[in-house]
Amino acid sequence: MTDDIQQQEIENELAAADAVRPEKFEYAIRIRGLRNQFGDAIIHDGLDLDVRSGEILGVVGGSGTGKSVLMRSIVGLQTPTAGEIEVYGKTLDTITDAEESRDLRRRWGVMFQGGALFSTLSVAENIQVPLREYYPRLDQRLLDEIAAYKVQMVGLPPDAGPKYPAELSGGMVKRAGLARSLALDPALLFLDEPTAGLDPIGAAKFDELIRELADTMGLTVFLITHDLDSLYATCDRVAVLAEKKVIAVGTIPELLATEHPWIQDYFNGPRGRAAASCKQATERQDGKS
Ligand SMILES: Nc1ncnc2c1ncn2[C@@H]1O[C@H](COP(=O)(O)OP(=O)(O)OP(=O)(O)O)[C@@H](O)[C@H]1O
Ligand SMILES: [Mg+2]
Repeated sequence: MTDDIQQQEIENELAAADAVRPEKFEYAIRIRGLRNQFGDAIIHDGLDLDVRSGEILGVVGGSGTGKSVLMRSIVGLQTPTAGEIEVYGKTLDTITDAEESRDLRRRWGVMFQGGALFSTLSVAENIQVPLREYYPRLDQRLLDEIAAYKVQMVGLPPDAGPKYPAELSGGMVKRAGLARSLALDPALLFLDEPTAGLDPIGAAKFDELIRELADTMGLTVFLITHDLDSLYATCDRVAVLAEKKVIAVGTIPELLATEHPWIQDYFNGPRGRAAASCKQATERQDGKS
């Protein structure tokens, strides 16, 4: 690609990125009256949710309550039966212009439940998949540079780039998945159970990384998790999915003040209390140092 065209593409990208800067939108995502149904099974019914720009929103709910389906609906992989989903003021399924749809999709990165790296591609090649899709004219040298930068950004050693997923530890696979979801410098990041399967130290480090990246890049994060420690460590607010809708959304203290039995069981059950006391201990320690 000639330098002129490359420069023009970079300028277009900067303008597009500027259009979705968090300060321009109070809400990155607005969902109203969402309904999802598979055959007779109604997963969501009348679900409303607002995700504020720049926040890390934790999404919790029992297994099978439709957290992943909700995420897939937002990113356009699942067509809802009814309702409206707006991302940065635009409704994906009413966009008819391919360019506009591409511009919107390019603003988010997704890490799916289970990671799902391409096993036949190296880490660097995995990271380059979305780049090649959106910028087919980028030359290999630049693709390699971007991949190396993303590898570094997620705290992987530089020699992880040429490795294949099977050669990595579970924690490294998660980081590689995160690197791929950050390939396009998204404004909005969707993470579906990113710490599942990690040991507690690996999970805590991953939480720290997400918090740090979100703060430095001004990201909005939609974080589905079962991990109570993650909720305490990373989330600004938490949305609770139950009874086919979001039954509550707020900070953890706000949720604790609600009477709902599932919420009480979840946060005040043995694991919830352990996570809360661990958080308090960390705060006391930070206060001392
Ligand atoms: N494509 C599909 N076709 C039919 N049913 C589906 C489809 N996708 C999801 N479901 C059903 O929708 C329900 C919600 O699934 P989903 O994967 O969103 O749950 P979840 O809250 O993410 O659970 P987990 O915590 O176990 O990941 C489940 O009963 C699932 O079987
Ligand atoms: Mg799921």
